[in-house]
Amino acid sequence: MSAPPDPVALNKPTGVPDRIILTWSKDPTTTQSVTWRTDTSVSEGWAEISPLSEGPRFVDRTGWVRAVTEKVVTDLSEAHYHSATFTDLQPDTQYVYRVGDGRTWSPWHQFRTAAATAGEPLEFLLFGDIQHGIESHWTRLVRTAVAHAPNARLAVYLGDIVEDWNRDGQWGEFLRAGAPLHQSVSAFPTPGNHEYGETLTPNWRPQFTLPLNGIPGHEEAVYYLDIQGVRFISLNSTHMSPEQAQWLDEVLKSNLNKWTVIVLHYPIFPSVPDRDEPYQRGLILPIIEMHGVDLVLAGHDHVYARSGIVCNSNSPNPRAGAVYVNTVSGAKMYDIKAQPWMLRKAEDTQLFSVVRVSGDELTFETRTPSGALYDRFILRKVPGKQNLLINDIPPTAERLRVLGTSN
Ligand SMILES: [Fe+2]
Repeated sequence: MSAPPDPVALNKPTGVPDRIILTWSKDPTTTQSVTWRTDTSVSEGWAEISPLSEGPRFVDRTGWVRAVTEKVVTDLSEAHYHSATFTDLQPDTQYVYRVGDGRTWSPWHQFRTAAATAGEPLEFLLFGDIQHGIESHWTRLVRTAVAHAPNARLAVYLGDIVEDWNRDGQWGEFLRAGAPLHQSVSAFPTPGNHEYGETLTPNWRPQFTLPLNGIPGHEEAVYYLDIQGVRFISLNSTHMSPEQAQWLDEVLKSNLNKWTVIVLHYPIFPSVPDRDEPYQRGLILPIIEMHGVDLVLAGHDHVYARSGIVCNSNSPNPRAGAVYVNTVSGAKMYDIKAQPWMLRKAEDTQLFSVVRVSGDELTFETRTPSGALYDRFILRKVPGKQNLLINDIPPTAERLRVLGTSN
């Protein structure tokens, strides 16, 4: 047995950029934000970009953007975080970029901007709580996920990325474990209860450059992003409030996108015993149903539970029902409380989902670390009516402790 690596040495910032992660903070068809870390000797950051070419000569046609640099003090170190946003890009176009200080640079990485046409096929990845075994257990899963979603434009994180909000080493694990994904696909994270101590973790706002279109006091925790006809909305479950509910109502009222996905940490419907959040449900569920949200994605429960189309209210909206998914991607696992609404469930299983939205159809696939398909359904838009749900669950046994099928 070798000793575990020293967290101070492993996470020490240097003059070489690390912890590089893409996000969208503005229009995803014409911009791209990128954030990275260095030690405090690097006083300014630059991001360099060029349209992709198959040969190496793209280096002759680059442009530069100056980053905003801020100092972050954690339990392990003092570091500079640099955040830059490329603008005036072409939609649905591949670019190469690198980050640095003008002398020391990262390797060139690649991304693609979003298409400008609503309804263009959109692929996104979904990860529930990572939290335990971040680098040791999540690394294999994220590699399989990337292989199954080569065209992903977004990677959605359902909160509790870390166990301890103020342990910088755990953020280092997340950034290292998913580095190839973070460097090429924009992250869409919502904070969980473990991202909070007295405040939101000091790693959050410097590390993620997210839209500032939410509400005061919840900056980069409550926000939304429209991409190719899908509105993604992040809510701050840990500090749910009437103000968030009102904001959600407004954001859904003005929503012209065909599809709507809500991303939050605490499930609307609990899937393990004694973890109900009735206050959140009372505030949010009527709004979800009034506006016909399609999909509600949550973490926190450390199991997998996926519903059919669930409609709870007497809403006059003929398409009030949504599909609810609670999922987990890290190593911490709980007992499920099986309930009739769960059409597919799992315990003791690390999972990721690949979601594809194309015109009137959304296809949702959940897979295990081996890549095996564990759950699949299709949602189809029907004008003026409830979405049509087509269940296509693979004929494999559910992975449940009571059946002895989980390990
Ligand atoms: Fe949680």
